[in-house]
Amino acid sequence: MSQDAFRLTSPDGKSLDLPIHRGTCGPDVIDVATLYREQGVFTYDPGFVSTGSCSSDITFIDGEKGILMYRGYPVEQLAEHSSFIEVSYLLLHGELPTAEQLAAFDRTIRTHTMLNEGMLRFFNGFRYDAHPMAMLSAVVGSMSAYYHDTTNAEDPEHRDIFSHRILAKLPTIAAAAYKLNIGQPFMYPRNDLNYCENLLHMFFAVPAEPYEIDPIAAEALDLLFILHADHEQNCSTSTVRMAGSSGANPYSAIAAGIAALWGPAHGGANEAVLSMLEEIGHAKNIGKYIEKAKDKNDPFRLMGFGHRVYKNFDPRATIIREMCHKVLAKLGRKDTPLFDLALELEQVALNDDYFKQKNLYPNVDFYSGIIYRALGIPTSMFTVMFAIGRSVGWTAHWREMISDPKGKIARPRQLYTGSPPRDYVDIAQRK
Ligand code: SDX
Repeated sequence: MSQDAFRLTSPDGKSLDLPIHRGTCGPDVIDVATLYREQGVFTYDPGFVSTGSCSSDITFIDGEKGILMYRGYPVEQLAEHSSFIEVSYLLLHGELPTAEQLAAFDRTIRTHTMLNEGMLRFFNGFRYDAHPMAMLSAVVGSMSAYYHDTTNAEDPEHRDIFSHRILAKLPTIAAAAYKLNIGQPFMYPRNDLNYCENLLHMFFAVPAEPYEIDPIAAEALDLLFILHADHEQNCSTSTVRMAGSSGANPYSAIAAGIAALWGPAHGGANEAVLSMLEEIGHAKNIGKYIEKAKDKNDPFRLMGFGHRVYKNFDPRATIIREMCHKVLAKLGRKDTPLFDLALELEQVALNDDYFKQKNLYPNVDFYSGIIYRALGIPTSMFTVMFAIGRSVGWTAHWREMISDPKGKIARPRQLYTGSPPRDYVDIAQRK
């Protein structure tokens, strides 16, 4: 990173030159690390709207131009030419794999999909209707109780084994949660199937009869996982970095990321979009909900719209919308009324002055749920699917954070607005 300086002058005339760092592309950053020591003040940016938490080589987003690239490769090209396993290798190792590297990586993932049998027994303790995200974060957190042999973050081999286990086992844990919810027996993974075929097998196969995997469904899932794989310092990825920065067990850091993703403002939005579309029910009701979304006194927001970074179309939404058409047509699913309602809602919102002025466009979550449902995946599992795709991004960022020789524990400061100092009052004197 090259450096210039940004001169800051305090009200009493004291100046401080703050270094400017330039990255490969995107906005420069002002290094404020010395600000408190030199000027006795903190920066203040709730929600980190204008604050960079780290430097990273992994993913880049240009919110104005609608650009998203993983390790420099545009997501559109990866969506067209690559696979989720190849993209996972790219995110973890920084380069596209050779044929031999890809074959070895794929083999490693295929042969680490089973869970410890003790971990499977956890599912007997959950209520049948437990939310799958609650089960996912709990069981992933429990991995730190099983894998003590590979949690030395200083050891590159341990980092690789941890990365492979997360990527390989999340679909198995997700499928076990789904089977508990529907009261069906758990289906063990199969090493002869690729990543998405295996997930469909574990979700939808039953011991009573053969299950035929639909290649269109596997292809649609693979594309959705590519599009969800990483997204810079989003809420859940920042959570993984923060939890990992204390040196916590990496499986616990991933479990923290899963918890953060669950929120409806973040990964929980895909589930909320379907609930919203079902509540709207018919195109004639769209106007009422658009007005609700614009009403400052109404907490309702148009789920699947808006983004902290994209002030233009989310490139992932564009790709997913096109895939929606294809999947619904090829699968012959009857969900087209919901998809048609989504298209109508999108057009009304995009032509509304409020949404145009605030740069509110459809985001990745607006269409993904329609495809998941067309594949037979229930709404309650949508955020779990997001977590499976994002797990490789979380892992890549944990590896980058833990490998940083200048890394330190993440510990933000604050603006204190509480009570001034006061003395303890005995209970007899309290009114
Ligand atoms: C994801 O960070 C990531 O990269 C996330 C993600 C990833 O891949 O990791 O891309 C995945 O989380 C996508 C976002 C999914 N969430 C939703 O679809 C929920 C609905 N969207 C909103 O909650 C909201 O748009 C956020 C949370 C996504 C972004 O919120 P910001 O950046 O904090 O923006 P904001 O709340 O300050 O909104 C700016 C203005 C506000 O109005 P004013 O206070 O300026 O008058 O726009 C309004 C908001 O009220 N607004 C909306 C709106 N989103 C923002 N109004 C109606 N409907 C909406 N959806």
